[in-house]
Amino acid sequence: MKSWLTRLAKQILPASCRNWLKDCWRRTHLIRMLRTIQRQKSPVELDQIRRLVQFWNNVGFSALDEYLLALVDYVGQGSGPILECGSGLSTLLVAVEAQRHGRQLYSLEHHPEWGAKVQSLLTTLGLENAHLAITPLTEFDGFSWYDTRKLSLPKDFTLVICDAPPGDTPGGRFGLLPCLREHLHSDAVVLLDDYERSEEKEIAERWAREFGMTIEEHGIEKPFGLLKFIQPSLVLETSRELDQEKILASVP
Ligand SMILES: C[S@@+](CC[C@H](N)C(=O)[O-])C[C@H]1O[C@@H](n2cnc3c(N)ncnc32)[C@H](O)[C@@H]1O
Repeated sequence: MKSWLTRLAKQILPASCRNWLKDCWRRTHLIRMLRTIQRQKSPVELDQIRRLVQFWNNVGFSALDEYLLALVDYVGQGSGPILECGSGLSTLLVAVEAQRHGRQLYSLEHHPEWGAKVQSLLTTLGLENAHLAITPLTEFDGFSWYDTRKLSLPKDFTLVICDAPPGDTPGGRFGLLPCLREHLHSDAVVLLDDYERSEEKEIAERWAREFGMTIEEHGIEKPFGLLKFIQPSLVLETSRELDQEKILASVP
């Protein structure tokens, strides 16, 4: 019956109409799946994430299941506000998990039409803990970054999901630390997607050098970077240990 209907639709409907129907079908299933995840007591499962990626149908731009699962894990492990750079499926999924854990999500998006699509889904799902800011990219000294001057952002983000701005932006994702360092908690974890790319690796290394951070590579299929600030107490502790070693070494 279904294949007969599909064949008939292919014969009589123009491609634009068929695509529109497919989009409606995917959106309906995406919303249904996200509602199921919202209702369930347990965190989202990998299989559910894989289906969401299929319904979202934005290969090439959307975060993949491994990164999305890591985001969900980190949302469940911690507390405090979450910052996201670059909205999409990750916004919806993280907002659902953040809602479960009483956390607020702030997402930055430069593309007005894209932002409107994501916002419409957040509204449909009643995800009031998600605050999507559609704001242009603006030039800074040697890089571009979201214009956050008119935004009221928390000063204690504990989790940062960095998946934008797009790679062709001057400086790529570098602007996160110079522009928003003062909004990050000293215990903040930054999850940097697309770490297989040399540009992302260079950015992470520059953040580590200029802002005192450690880098770990995670993920098997598609790596992502995990960055944390080096804790001042640890630096003090290490220098104390070194001093003690020097003192002991100088004892005849
Ligand atoms: C890597 S995407 C962010 C993806 C998002 N974190 C997710 O999981 O879906 C970075 C930016 O690309 C833009 N973008 C997303 N999908 C796009 C598409 N299909 N075509 C052009 N730009 C797109 C949006 O402005 C988005 O903020």
